[in-house]
Amino acid sequence: MQRIGVLTSGGDCPGLNAVIRGVVRAATNRHWEVLGFHDGFEGLLPPANYEVLDVKRCAGIMQLGGTILGTTNRGHFVAKVGEGSVARIPDEIIDRAKVTVQQLGIGALIAIGGDGSLSTALQMQEAGIPMIGVPKTIDNDLEATATSFGFDSAVAFVSEALDRLHTTASSHKRVMVIEVMGRHAGWIALYGGLAGGADVILIPEIPFDYEKIAEAVRKREADGVLSTLVVVAEGAHPHDRGELYRKAGSGEYKLGGIGEQVAAEIAARTGKETRCCVLGHLQRGGNPTTLDRILGTRFGVHAVDLIAEGRFGEMVSYQNYQVLGVPISHAVHKLKRVPSDGQMVATARAMAVSFGD
Ligand code: F6P
Repeated sequence: MQRIGVLTSGGDCPGLNAVIRGVVRAATNRHWEVLGFHDGFEGLLPPANYEVLDVKRCAGIMQLGGTILGTTNRGHFVAKVGEGSVARIPDEIIDRAKVTVQQLGIGALIAIGGDGSLSTALQMQEAGIPMIGVPKTIDNDLEATATSFGFDSAVAFVSEALDRLHTTASSHKRVMVIEVMGRHAGWIALYGGLAGGADVILIPEIPFDYEKIAEAVRKREADGVLSTLVVVAEGAHPHDRGELYRKAGSGEYKLGGIGEQVAAEIAARTGKETRCCVLGHLQRGGNPTTLDRILGTRFGVHAVDLIAEGRFGEMVSYQNYQVLGVPISHAVHKLKRVPSDGQMVATARAMAVSFGD
């Protein structure tokens, strides 16, 4: 192995640069050269868009959010369009990427991305390009790894936002609804909500009833607590309706709007002044926490180890405090949801948190 490639694909999150730096340092130790492809898999299409990554280029990047390589969740390599539906990348596109890999003499390619990007990596592996995956999910919803970098940073931000909303909510005796990311899984809402002392947490896994939320607010009033913090995951929904979508331009739909709806229902049912705050992409920006820097570094180093061992078609995975290699095929199509009868939900319930059910 003389030369390897690395790219970041899909939505960005804090910790991507820690992975890149880990890859570059570990590869440099083995006297390998690393090429970083720009804007995800798109950078592989001729004329290839890449740069040589060395220790100097990676100095001081670990603590930066985003990715120095750029990324995209659009373009020619989108393998996943929503939950469960995997699109085949056209053979012609994969062949063009393969030409780049061969012409540049790249022995293996590390793809850092979520389930969609890992689906793409798997298809490329099947087409004969030696691939290694690094799972990236701010939503923490990949079954094949206990956690991934980016999640802790998002949770820390939600918790800080709740701290801030707590003071204004209690000063005005209001209900504050905070909408957070989490399309299919409520991990960010649950962890962020618990850390920030939320009173109501609404997650996709536990469909809610507006009247139960109102009851929770009224009970707090009766107990003399005049403000309430409600965290709602963007994919949460009432038991009699599906998720809320908003139009995002050119026929594209994205989740969003449930926070405003929950706020309006609470105000109508309780008469309480209620405000909604949507955290959106603030959760994806900013510097990674120490935990995400360390996990990202470990993932990057282990991805290089997997290449050295010739374990192509595998991805790094965090399990029982160890970083291991598992087949990429195990990672895709399997979402990790919050178990509604699990310990975290039970702990929250014991803290008198309402899930609106
Ligand atoms: O999957 C990560 C995620 O941040 C989701 O939580 C969110 O719904 C989505 O990506 C937002 O995507 P985009 O950046 O394309 O708006």
